[in-house]
Amino acid sequence: MTAQLLDGRTLAANLRRELRTHARTFAAEHGRAAYLALLAVGDDQNALLFGQQVIKVCQALGVAYSLTRFAADVSEAAIRAQVAHAGNDPATDGVVVLLPLPGGVRQRVVTEVLAPAKDVDGLGPRNAGNLMLGFPSFVPGTAEAVMTLLGQTGITLRGKHAVIVGRSNVGGKPVALQLLRHDATITVCHSHTPNLAEITRTADILVVSVGRPGALTGAMVRPGAVVLDAGINPTAQGIVGDVDFASVREVAGWLTPVPGGLGPLTHLMVIRHTLLGPTP
Ligand SMILES: NC(=O)c1ccc[n+]([C@@H]2O[C@H](COP(=O)([O-])OP(=O)(O)OC[C@H]3O[C@@H](n4cnc5c(N)ncnc54)[C@H](OP(=O)(O)O)[C@@H]3O)[C@@H](O)[C@H]2O)c1
Repeated sequence: MTAQLLDGRTLAANLRRELRTHARTFAAEHGRAAYLALLAVGDDQNALLFGQQVIKVCQALGVAYSLTRFAADVSEAAIRAQVAHAGNDPATDGVVVLLPLPGGVRQRVVTEVLAPAKDVDGLGPRNAGNLMLGFPSFVPGTAEAVMTLLGQTGITLRGKHAVIVGRSNVGGKPVALQLLRHDATITVCHSHTPNLAEITRTADILVVSVGRPGALTGAMVRPGAVVLDAGINPTAQGIVGDVDFASVREVAGWLTPVPGGLGPLTHLMVIRHTLLGPTP
């Protein structure tokens, strides 16, 4: 079997067209463009790359934005003050703190002061709690992208076994909660999971968010499974995912390429949220 590829680029192009219309409607209704505030602490390349991708889309769609940068050794109090200020500004519609933060800056301390209604990347405790409770919430982009691409396969999620490898707050956990909400049976694996391959081979749907190239190989996949690769790993050969593409492609039924799978959709989600509000 050779897997069908789940094409995130085409979906992203369609979503961008939709969002352009929403940006115009927003501007007409509010008398100003929607405004997204990005905050970066330090110079982590992944955080800054994500920020640049969001900014490019803002520019293309007519969404106003700012990028506030702090040095890596800034005090948590200074970041908190800026996050709180941006969240309380009535002319700001969304605030994103770019991750990962430098070692000395605690994500909880920074995001707990962000107004939940402006927390468009779903990083703060209120939105994460609402997601867990099944209430409307801003859902982190990777989980939204996973659900959007799964929708493309036409498969019914109800009753399927979904295995999520990785339990980060922006990756595995929200993906698991979204799949649970759609009546999949979920298993979440992490670095202390013994016999990982035995578990992944039972999955109808496999989502991998580990941050290590080759973390999932073809021998770990049940024939016909849907495999979604959240990994974004810079290598000398360019960006690669967490999935060993060549071997998994021969076994899976559906597979996201990297690049061109989840990635192009993820950064669009914060703009969708800024324009349209939380996911019901
Ligand atoms: N597509 C996107 O838009 C997007 C968004 C965010 C991140 N990413 C990418 O996704 C990847 C993961 O990032 P992340 O932030 O979700 O994760 P992360 O915070 O780096 O955590 C990695 C997760 O993988 C687990 N893990 C590590 N080694 C493992 C192993 N050998 N077997 C099973 N589980 C293992 C860890 O387990 P423990 O919890 O036990 O340590 C942890 O839960 C990165 O490449 C990142 O760049 C992509």
